[in-house]
Amino acid sequence: MKKYTTTPLYYVNATPHLGTAYATIMTDGLVKFHKLLGYETRFLTGTDEHGQKIQQAADAKGISPQELTDQVSRSFQMYWADMGIDFDIFYRTTNEKHKEVVSKALDILHHKGDIYSKEYSGWYCVSEETFYAEKDLVNGKTPSGKPVEQVTEKNYFFKMSKYQDQLIKYIENHPKFIQPKSRKNEVLGFLKQPLEDLSISRPKSRVSWGIPIPFDTEQVTYVWVDALLNYAAACGLLQENRKEEFNTWWNEAFVTHIIGKDILTTHAVYWTTLLMALDVKLPDQIFAHGWILNKENEKMSKSFGDIVDPKEIAEVVGIDSLRYYFFSEVHFGKDAPFSMELLCLKTNSDLANNLGNLVSRSFNLINKYFDGKVPALPENSPEDIVNKGLGIFESIEKAILKNQPHEAITYIIEFLNLANQYLEEKAPWKLAKKGDLKEAGESLRVALEVVRMACYGLLPVMPNKCKEILELLGLKAEYQSASEQLSSWGLIKTNQVLEKIKPIFPRVEFEKEEKS
Ligand code: MSP
Repeated sequence: MKKYTTTPLYYVNATPHLGTAYATIMTDGLVKFHKLLGYETRFLTGTDEHGQKIQQAADAKGISPQELTDQVSRSFQMYWADMGIDFDIFYRTTNEKHKEVVSKALDILHHKGDIYSKEYSGWYCVSEETFYAEKDLVNGKTPSGKPVEQVTEKNYFFKMSKYQDQLIKYIENHPKFIQPKSRKNEVLGFLKQPLEDLSISRPKSRVSWGIPIPFDTEQVTYVWVDALLNYAAACGLLQENRKEEFNTWWNEAFVTHIIGKDILTTHAVYWTTLLMALDVKLPDQIFAHGWILNKENEKMSKSFGDIVDPKEIAEVVGIDSLRYYFFSEVHFGKDAPFSMELLCLKTNSDLANNLGNLVSRSFNLINKYFDGKVPALPENSPEDIVNKGLGIFESIEKAILKNQPHEAITYIIEFLNLANQYLEEKAPWKLAKKGDLKEAGESLRVALEVVRMACYGLLPVMPNKCKEILELLGLKAEYQSASEQLSSWGLIKTNQVLEKIKPIFPRVEFEKEEKS
């Protein structure tokens, strides 16, 4: 089975910040879990590069929109690479192929009679690139507090209303289509009101930075319509020479869009009705996650002045700890607070004191008393520990099917807790001192086996640290090996030599910010 998973395309008016890093890291981890479970995967992320917002950002910098998009999109790619994100496709909406696909799609809809022109008068929010009706404004601003401006202009409209009933039926008949369930209900609630047609163009006189409307050179494509088409265009939509690929990666694969809850309507309503009009299969799942919140409990974002640079954070605790925080602490779909204090607490409790402690103790004692050679297993390894370890794969399967990775992490932490308790009880450091090397060695071997299994289970979350530990154990950190590694006890080679190591997860000290 193939799984194709996407993040939204990020606007290039700002460089990556903690909110967008969170969205991309979570999607990357889910894709890595899919790999671990044996699926063939494709992972798309990229940048949304047209529209008034980008045009204005370029003007403010005194550079051309193309220069701005080139610069920022490069910085996104570098950022993601530095954060251990392995995308297969980095999609840019300014690529030539994309422009052709958008034009083709609009031509098809136009010929079909699903596009018409009309004089429009109303409110527009540049920051959200969205039209608002008077009744939807709150104190003269958008519901999330962004300014709007009055516009009166000719626009082309897509007959979205025509597909309202079809969409409602589709959502009702496919209960897993929009996730979590509360978001499905939100969309169905929205669809109780008559659906309006969607403005899909802007006059060139107002927005020149966009894909021209193929049947009217004075208009450019509305940036959301342009950007939404990326997901399918990247797999070959409307491209003669890529029909087979489109079939494989769109029609036959399980397609999931991971998005933030703020862009649910554009995906669950605009995108899906556009696909219906184009006679193309809908994605299998749209999963809307919550927000990473700042100290004021608001969505962390650059427009609120939260310049939380994920790289700066990673310099303090390491990329893998930041990834671990997101995967273990956030219940995917819900909002979650973030602060350096919370991150440091989590790093110390789960990584330094738990997994890290198990690694350090076993490696150090094996070096001290066994010349670094991995001791043999006991005849009977503790049953509760072995059984818990053999349940990791299934716990991952269950959790990932629901897009709730934290459940698998909780399971693995319980497994590590068991091993730490066992080691405390056995106290191999005392046994060795007393000269009972056999029992000391056996208990250390049990601890190492736990480390092995935990690291295979956590590989999607902490790809760097788990790889490092697995390689120290003489194992290959490959996703294809995980199902075998998680279905057997005792796979580390006896007498394998372990190097002396420094702590893999040093404790981190939290420094309170000085108030200036
Ligand atoms: N360009 C559009 C998406 C087009 S997809 C065809 C867009 N871009 S965005 O850069 O503004 O936001 C992209 C995503 O980042 C959204 O899903 C949004 O929810 C997410 N996040 C931005 N800040 C975030 C947090 N503080 N927390 C979690 N997600 C965050 O919308």
